[in-house]
Amino acid sequence: MDPQTFYIKTYGCQMNELDSAIMSSLLEQRGMEKSDEENADLIIFNTCSVRDLAERKVFGKLGILGRKKKSSIIGVAGCIAMHKKEAILQKFPHVDFVLGTNNIADLPQILDEVLEHKKQAIRIEDRYDQRIDHLTPTWTAPIKAFVSIIRGCNKFCTYCIVPFTRGREISRPPHLILEECKILADKGCKEITLLGQNVNSYGKDLDNMSFSDLLSDLDKIEGIQRIRFLTSHPVDISKDLMYAVRDLPSVCEFIHFPIQSGSNHILKKMNRRYTAEEYMEKIALFREIVPGVSFGTDIIVGFPGETEEDFLQTCQLFHAANFSLAYIFAYSPRKGTAASLMKDDVPFLEKKRRLEQLLTLYKNNLEARSVELIGKRVEVLVERENKDHQLLKGKTRGYQKVIFPGQETLIGSLCQVQLEEYKHQTFLGKIIPKDE
Ligand code: 5AD
Ligand code: SF4
Repeated sequence: MDPQTFYIKTYGCQMNELDSAIMSSLLEQRGMEKSDEENADLIIFNTCSVRDLAERKVFGKLGILGRKKKSSIIGVAGCIAMHKKEAILQKFPHVDFVLGTNNIADLPQILDEVLEHKKQAIRIEDRYDQRIDHLTPTWTAPIKAFVSIIRGCNKFCTYCIVPFTRGREISRPPHLILEECKILADKGCKEITLLGQNVNSYGKDLDNMSFSDLLSDLDKIEGIQRIRFLTSHPVDISKDLMYAVRDLPSVCEFIHFPIQSGSNHILKKMNRRYTAEEYMEKIALFREIVPGVSFGTDIIVGFPGETEEDFLQTCQLFHAANFSLAYIFAYSPRKGTAASLMKDDVPFLEKKRRLEQLLTLYKNNLEARSVELIGKRVEVLVERENKDHQLLKGKTRGYQKVIFPGQETLIGSLCQVQLEEYKHQTFLGKIIPKDE
């Protein structure tokens, strides 16, 4: 019997979240309905292989499902699908299909194939499929939405699997991006987040189109009040981009651009293509051009050869850069990358200690930064009510979480809020009436 219901479990980055939303739309177009894992006729794991832990979680889950011997159709999509291909089907005989990151458009066909032939199917192409440019999720009444603008990565950082699972950089045609954002605006969407593994490389493979040009075109769309973008590579942070953030009203003053390490020796081994000094110069210039801009980062501790001295340099830079958001990871070797051939010589417990030390530094820095904002007025885009329907939840332009009492009717609007308290990485505030 044709499956009637589906459940998609997403691991990893925002690009995977977007791909899952696209797959959901494709299944809904077939007349299928969303369900939960227990009851779904079709279960898809949209996987991530950026870090070892993410991969182990998915394999653990697939193992458990196999033991349950359920009758559902099971599919594996995303980065692990690219990376492990046939191995998944061999190891997990209850998995019905494997779908690569370039093949999400083929989901309906692979499903038909499984139903018809009743045997395992696989669709994986290394090459980017242009049809993906035309796939958009059907968001219902979105306040915020993700929009993919570039897929793949050409940077080849030595630790990273992404260039192998997502392929080379391909910019999506600008007219399709504009069209999608206009449709979103017409549906009432207020905030879009432009996505790419290397978002600010956008346009390098196009004629006469840069990332700043795209931002400028998107800024003109009526109704879109906030534009964000993720993730930027420091090398591609240009002065033009800084001016765009300063001059375009809808572009938020928050930039996520990972440093990864504060040691030049490690940055070189990571093939990051910049020095710690160059990174800090960009931070300083950005702050000069766009006062009030804030930064997010990713950091890897325990990369091969990282000494205590290298780690302390990371801590110093981390402190000096005063990040408002940070994701900190312990290095794990990924098969097929250049770093996996280097000796993984920082012991597990030492990686853990460095990670915890940096997390403590992060929390303390954040506390100090945030306390300074108490008493200030900020603009909040109200996203939803909190769990017990007592308070409204939203974010500032700088990506800080704010909760405050207010009417449900404010959801989807921009409010001025005075910040009064800071607890658990969230501000508590009170709304300021429009005429004050
Ligand atoms: N080990 C640990 N962290 C990694 N990242 C990418 N590859 C690895 C790895 N092999 C981190 C980087 C990147 C983020 C998405 O994941 O910090 O920016
Ligand atoms: Fe991976 Fe480096 Fe590309 Fe980011 S820039 S996706 S870390 S290879």
